[in-house]
Amino acid sequence: MCYKNLSGISWEDLQSLSLVERGKYFNQEGGLPYHTLIAQQFNRTNLDLLCNLTTKVRHICKTKQGVSFMKDLGCGKRAIIYFDQPSTRTRLSFEAACDILGIDRSLVDNPAETSSEKKGESKLDTMRTFSSYGNMIIMRTIQQGLAEQTAWHLAQTRRPVPVFNGGSGKDQHPTQMLLDVYTFKRSMEKVGGLTSKTIVFVGDLKRGRTVRSLAWALTNYTPIKLVFCALDRFQILPDVLEWLDAAPGVEYELTSNFTQAIREADGLYMTRMQDEHDESGESKGVDTFNLTPDNVNTMKPTAVIHHPLPRRDEIHTAIDTDPRAMQWRGVRNGQWMRVADIATVFGWHTDIEDYWRKNHI
Ligand code: NCD
Repeated sequence: MCYKNLSGISWEDLQSLSLVERGKYFNQEGGLPYHTLIAQQFNRTNLDLLCNLTTKVRHICKTKQGVSFMKDLGCGKRAIIYFDQPSTRTRLSFEAACDILGIDRSLVDNPAETSSEKKGESKLDTMRTFSSYGNMIIMRTIQQGLAEQTAWHLAQTRRPVPVFNGGSGKDQHPTQMLLDVYTFKRSMEKVGGLTSKTIVFVGDLKRGRTVRSLAWALTNYTPIKLVFCALDRFQILPDVLEWLDAAPGVEYELTSNFTQAIREADGLYMTRMQDEHDESGESKGVDTFNLTPDNVNTMKPTAVIHHPLPRRDEIHTAIDTDPRAMQWRGVRNGQWMRVADIATVFGWHTDIEDYWRKNHI
């Protein structure tokens, strides 16, 4: 099923590839996702396909007939949902996406306490067990690379089920990236879409996995300018800048001037301090950049404000009613985008397209 077969490469050789090359092992022949592991397996073609499908899914689910059509697609499939880090939106939206598609689900939450990991079972044995009961694995883990390793490991077995990365350490969050791209794209429809825009990232850019995945994904919407606004010690890491250097049509700037950055923004991506990754309290007492009812007025009238959430003070709650604030719409988009992603992995996107043609045109 994979475009380049994961069973034909050693784990070490896979690790030595560039992220874009590695991504080819996670996609189906034809370039649609099989696993959803890293932002670099996505390109303009599969991103646009997923965004268009998300819009159709949203509309189809407005009717009872559409809801039952969708629910039939995943009948007989089971998802195993494994989260070893806290989550509200990612977990609930994956659960909702499974329900919308009629996929049964089993949840393994807090595995260190509740699963055989407590008895010393390895994570890979745990994952192999999941593949015996489930047709897909959805996982969030602090352990960077575990989702990829699970996909590789299962490719060497008779049940190489698709793996969905719901957040891996400080590294990547590809399904959040999908909903972020969709949210920006959809909100910018009236101003010509994402291309030729300035997107400003603010906050803990060093340890924010959503920022790393989204920054790469936006290189598919060139020409584009990315501004990284952070205190020096929380600034975006050099590996991301290398990705951007290699992408034609991408301009970027590093700054700590929040006042100036928000004035220039067509899209603003606020993030919180990722203090769970502190090694010695480095983010304690740090003044964060916050959007307030005062400074939001300096932003363009067409700007799109977004946040992956959870937030602390980065976006004042009074701004939630500002028509430019899209972070809550983003939460709901996450459910629909995850439906689209899962449906595409299992090949149901063609059924959805057929249903759309027959019922919505
Ligand atoms: C993000 C995450 O877990 O990385 N949350 C999410 O999935 N929406 C962002 C964060 O926790 O700051």
